[in-house]
Amino acid sequence: MIPRYPPHISLARLPTPLQPLDRISEKYSLPGGGPRIWVKRDDLTESGMSGNKLRKLEFVTGAAREQGCDTLITCGGEQSNHCRTTALVGARLGMHVQLILRGDAPAVADGNLLLDRLAGAATAFYPPRQFFAELPALFEHWKAFYAGRGHKALCIPTGASDGLGIWGYIAGAEELLQDCRERGFEPEHVVCATGSGGTQAGLTLGAQLLQANTRVTGYAVCDNEAYFQNKVREDIAHWSALNGQQVDTGALDVHVNADYIGPGYAVADEPVYRAIAEAASLEGLLLDPVYTGKAFYGLLQELRAGRYRDCGNLVFVHTGGQFGIFPQREKFAHLEG
Ligand SMILES: Cc1ncc(COP(=O)(O)O)c(C=O)c1O
Repeated sequence: MIPRYPPHISLARLPTPLQPLDRISEKYSLPGGGPRIWVKRDDLTESGMSGNKLRKLEFVTGAAREQGCDTLITCGGEQSNHCRTTALVGARLGMHVQLILRGDAPAVADGNLLLDRLAGAATAFYPPRQFFAELPALFEHWKAFYAGRGHKALCIPTGASDGLGIWGYIAGAEELLQDCRERGFEPEHVVCATGSGGTQAGLTLGAQLLQANTRVTGYAVCDNEAYFQNKVREDIAHWSALNGQQVDTGALDVHVNADYIGPGYAVADEPVYRAIAEAASLEGLLLDPVYTGKAFYGLLQELRAGRYRDCGNLVFVHTGGQFGIFPQREKFAHLEG
């Protein structure tokens, strides 16, 4: 059973649709059969605020309001979907947003960064080495900066992945399982892209609390399997401590596929771009090159290899990120002409 949800602010358009991908299912089924593939359209949680982060930010902003905060500080890469969502959420709620960004400020803002700017978020760029080494100090610096100007800031960790943010995907798991129930099945598998671990943590914990016979697998887009095995448990342990709930994190079923990270975070090989084009042309589904495209490409390879042969229904959670297509436009050159 899911314990009482903490205060949250309704920002997302929920429930998001659950849709079958029948042309993809047919193309990737094997002679012995294969699952019907469904997509949970969390890319439709909103327009500019679209994607998985909005579910988490509903709970984060609920806590910010409870604590009397008027400022949100968070961090990420230059093309962070999480930062873009936070920037627009802040604008929607009339809060200041400070973004701590990794890398060099580009001459021209594109994709998510352009939307950060449109939303009026303040941005500060740091070289990657400094960003990784000094992140807690950078958060403290900006928190003190705003306090000095009479503001109270809430610091949101990378991807809003912690014991508070994962509430968004505990609720997401409840919604997804209900969608499936209404269509007459319980999915054997749910898969999603995993980057800071919180979406996977929330789905994993939600499925467990609801006693679903559903295996949640995160397809890693960075780091490695050991990292996510640990990070998902860490977020769930934090949730358990915050909410006074007993969870045996050692006994949790955490599944990570780290075989499709490719060259590295936000860098993909050509087959990923081809999979993105295939999802768009076969199903009208827009995936991104950093998260959902990589995870979806990995899923298609696993389907081809027969990994899900005995499964009846599999749900791919589309976690958004479509603004990330544009800064990588040159990678789609093969489509020209
Ligand atoms: C579009 C998109 N999909 C998936 C993820 C991964 O979610 P999480 O950070 O909760 O692992 C992210 C962010 O990291 C994202 O922006």
